[in-house]
Amino acid sequence: MKKRAVITGVHAWVPPYVLGNKELETMVDTNDEWITSRTGIKERRILKGENQGTSVIGTEAVKGLLEKTGTDPAEIDLIICATVTPDMLFPATANIVAHNVGAKNSYSFDISAACSGFLYALSIGSQFIETGAHKKVIVIGADKMSSIVNYQDRTTCIIFGDGGGAVLLEPTEEPLGVMDALLHTDGSGADFLHMRAGGSRKPATLETVTNREHYVFQEGSTVFKFAVTNMADVSAKIMQKNNLTADDVAWLVPHQANKRIIDATANRMGIGPEKVMLNIEKYGNTTAGTIPLCLWDYESQLNKGDNLILAAFGGGFTWGAVYLKWGYDPK
Ligand SMILES: CC(C)(COP(=O)(O)OP(=O)(O)OC[C@H]1O[C@@H](n2cnc3c(N)ncnc32)[C@H](O)[C@@H]1OP(=O)(O)O)[C@@H](O)C(=O)NCCC(=O)NCCS
Repeated sequence: MKKRAVITGVHAWVPPYVLGNKELETMVDTNDEWITSRTGIKERRILKGENQGTSVIGTEAVKGLLEKTGTDPAEIDLIICATVTPDMLFPATANIVAHNVGAKNSYSFDISAACSGFLYALSIGSQFIETGAHKKVIVIGADKMSSIVNYQDRTTCIIFGDGGGAVLLEPTEEPLGVMDALLHTDGSGADFLHMRAGGSRKPATLETVTNREHYVFQEGSTVFKFAVTNMADVSAKIMQKNNLTADDVAWLVPHQANKRIIDATANRMGIGPEKVMLNIEKYGNTTAGTIPLCLWDYESQLNKGDNLILAAFGGGFTWGAVYLKWGYDPK
């Protein structure tokens, strides 16, 4: 019997500060009606305070996950953190989280795949379980987007927020867990969505700071077109590959970038809105955080054996879909 990796718990965390559309109206030339109709976002969470990085989000999510699943941190073999807003360029944020939660027998690393990061990390983590190498793997998706968002740019600052979540993966011989993954990259997309300075190509200088080059640059309409096409295509493709009809799918778990992109994906899959996880209105786009945040919000509605299609598109460009069977009934 093939060993599979099944999600045996999910937990998430968002900071308490709520940045609503009304407050954004006081910061840039925008309005609630424009933001709501173009994106579906009403508010997002912001991590405030000195020395508060993405590891704070990851640590809170993992602490809650360990408590909820009754897991001893010493039993964790591996922690993978998907993020584009690491606490520092190095060491990995996953290392800091591992230390904070007392996962002293675990090794850890970060994955940089922007909004698709959680799907990449989930697929990688699953394979360590499937090969029998590990018994308990934690996959985190978390971002503090407010650290790289230009609050003078109305085209990007309305979209992003801070938050994230984590799942525990364990082996099973039941027909549950991660069944399939289709993951893609197109490096030509770097021109349309990136952070110009602060990397090895253009290290930080006074000039890069003055020119506001340490913030997300996005050519929104180009990204939108690629996102709509690719997220919908890959979701339809993974259904086809696994002989799934719309009736077989219990939930679409889409990356929360823009409600219009989510609607297009659901339409392409033939899935009605009642089967689409949606919380973009509360959190905005938390990049690697959106999918675990959805699973956490909807956990009480998930049943053992439910077919879930997770789908994402993001900077890179990166995109993909994961087909999984949910591992447990509501507790
Ligand atoms: C960013 C995004 C919401 C913009 O929506 P859009 O419908 O494409 O809007 P456009 O960029 O074409 O801009 C339309 C107009 O609204 C204006 N506008 C942009 N932001 C605005 C804001 N916050 N408030 C009011 N008006 C705004 C533009 O200046 C433009 O005005 P103009 O026609 O006078 O030039 C949309 O492109 C998007 O969601 N892109 C993908 C985002 C994404 O998924 N990114 C992360 C990767 S997953």
